Amino acid sequence: MRVGILTGGGDCPGLNAVIRAIVRKGIQNYNYEMLGIIEGWKGLIKDGLIKPLELSDVSGILHRGGTILKTSRTNPFKIENGVSTIKENLKKNKIDALVAIGGEDTLGVAAKLFQDGIHVVGVPKTIDNDVIGTDTTFGFDTALNIATEAIDRVHTTAEAHNRVMVVEVMGRHAGWIAVESGIAGGADIILFPERITFVNEVCTLIKRRHSRGKDFSIVVVAEGAKIKMSPDSKEEELVLQDRKLDAFGHVRLGGIGYKLAELIEAGTDYETRVVILGHIQRGGSPTAFDRVLATRFGVHAIDLVHRGQFGNMVALQGTKIVPYPLSNVVSQTKTIDPELIETAEVFFG
Ligand code: F6P
Repeated sequence: MRVGILTGGGDCPGLNAVIRAIVRKGIQNYNYEMLGIIEGWKGLIKDGLIKPLELSDVSGILHRGGTILKTSRTNPFKIENGVSTIKENLKKNKIDALVAIGGEDTLGVAAKLFQDGIHVVGVPKTIDNDVIGTDTTFGFDTALNIATEAIDRVHTTAEAHNRVMVVEVMGRHAGWIAVESGIAGGADIILFPERITFVNEVCTLIKRRHSRGKDFSIVVVAEGAKIKMSPDSKEEELVLQDRKLDAFGHVRLGGIGYKLAELIEAGTDYETRVVILGHIQRGGSPTAFDRVLATRFGVHAIDLVHRGQFGNMVALQGTKIVPYPLSNVVSQTKTIDPELIETAEVFFG
């Protein structure tokens, strides 16, 4: 049996740990031939992007960020003859099964390819933690720890200068990083994509805190958060870096921190500064939690291949790794648990 592995979408810490686990168990336990497909779905469309993966190729990569297979946001359904080319290439390279490691976009493609008869298994990844069906994705814990450390650091400088500090974190459709790092770092206000926040209420909360004798405040905002000046304002704002859509129809987010800081400074008269964490949250070594989860996902993914349970991804539910249908993942987002929001709100202002 020949099994191809690819990583698609934005990278995230732990991808190499998954690849290592799939290859180790695939070769050692099942005697499979393993193949690396370079740059996500692009590797099955363009020539020369498929290479054998031996045990030596996955040695020493467990702790490394990024992905040895590289990644792209290629969508085969948006490319002329994309799907038929994938089928031809799978045949030409005698690939019997695929393991696709990715977020909702990559897994959505995997789900459609499975409907089209391709033997594919998924592994959910994203720092945003917004894939439905799994309690958590690997990469999230690393991003959360990076964001929390950043908030801790920003605290001391905010306090020294009597400033409001706005920390912008990633999170396109869901505010997991914002809310959890905000709780862990003791943020005074958190803004996230699941609901619209009114800037005048943010200013009131900051002023209330300062009237209690606090001279500084920390605001955490997810890049995908939506703001309005007040409940009566017509326009809600989603701040974009670029209006151009990628192959999956996403705009480029980022920069809401600057907009918010400007409005807070105008509404409170407190000096305000901004930190945008951006891709720092996706880079570098995975935490121990993410290495273990990624390793468990990889081992269970190759087991699904071995048992012929195609059309599923591996998922963490409670303490167990279980199969979860890829068809359920398409166009659903795992948004923040309202109970977690209520907990965060206790500490607002
Ligand atoms: O999907 C994960 C993510 O990190 C989002 O939070 C963010 O909006 C996006 O990727 C950024 O993508 P890119 O690296 O392509 O700019």
